[in-house]
Amino acid sequence: MIVDPTSTDYLSVYKLLLGSVVPRPIAFVSTVNPEGAFNVAPFSFFTVASANPPVLVFSVGRRANPDPTKDTLRNINTAREFVVNVVSEEFGPKMNLCAGDYPPEVNEFQVSGLTPIPSDLVKAPRVAESHINMECRLLYTIELSGLVSGGHLVLGQVIRFHIDDAYFHDYRIDPDKLRAIGRMAGNSYTRTLDRFDMIRPA
Ligand SMILES: Cc1cc2nc3c(=O)[nH]c(=O)nc-3n(C[C@H](O)[C@H](O)[C@H](O)COP(=O)(O)O)c2cc1C
Repeated sequence: MIVDPTSTDYLSVYKLLLGSVVPRPIAFVSTVNPEGAFNVAPFSFFTVASANPPVLVFSVGRRANPDPTKDTLRNINTAREFVVNVVSEEFGPKMNLCAGDYPPEVNEFQVSGLTPIPSDLVKAPRVAESHINMECRLLYTIELSGLVSGGHLVLGQVIRFHIDDAYFHDYRIDPDKLRAIGRMAGNSYTRTLDRFDMIRPA
């Protein structure tokens, strides 16, 4: 099958991307608005952009009108900081509750029953249930397109890690304890328990 994205409707292209780029890690991003209200939402167009300095990148898609800008992006544009929380299987269903298209005044912490706790260096809260929280300061936002589903890249420098002591051994994270989940296409997720090693050539 050959697909030319320029002559294919965007929803079909979206489905192709979601099925092809798998599994995707999930940035569970917590932010605060200028009135102090908390927001938290998952984003799987997410990865590490740089290790030195440590920089994370995720992409916020544009909604259809009348309100194309998601709360996460609006909050980051004003506060210029956010927290990326790692999602473990045990609170996956609560993370999923935070992905509804709620109006800005809805606090997803209340909807999901997740617990906001203070960060050290940023005003955005951390998710207490998450075993790893990364406090980030905004470096850049980059708008890739003004079309529906067009991405808006958010690059943030990690200025503090919080890692559950039981999961941390000499700067390595225990994946069997962390039980991070990843996103597949549709409503599917993957666990991170079935792994194998390959030795990289010298
Ligand atoms: C696991 C998962 C991953 C998601 N990944 C993205 C993503 O990468 N980009 C995006 O724009 N929306 C993504 N969404 C949808 C957003 O979470 C959803 O639009 C949410 O309502 C945004 O919240 P906000 O308006 O409070 O920022 C994802 C949803 C789920 C459940």
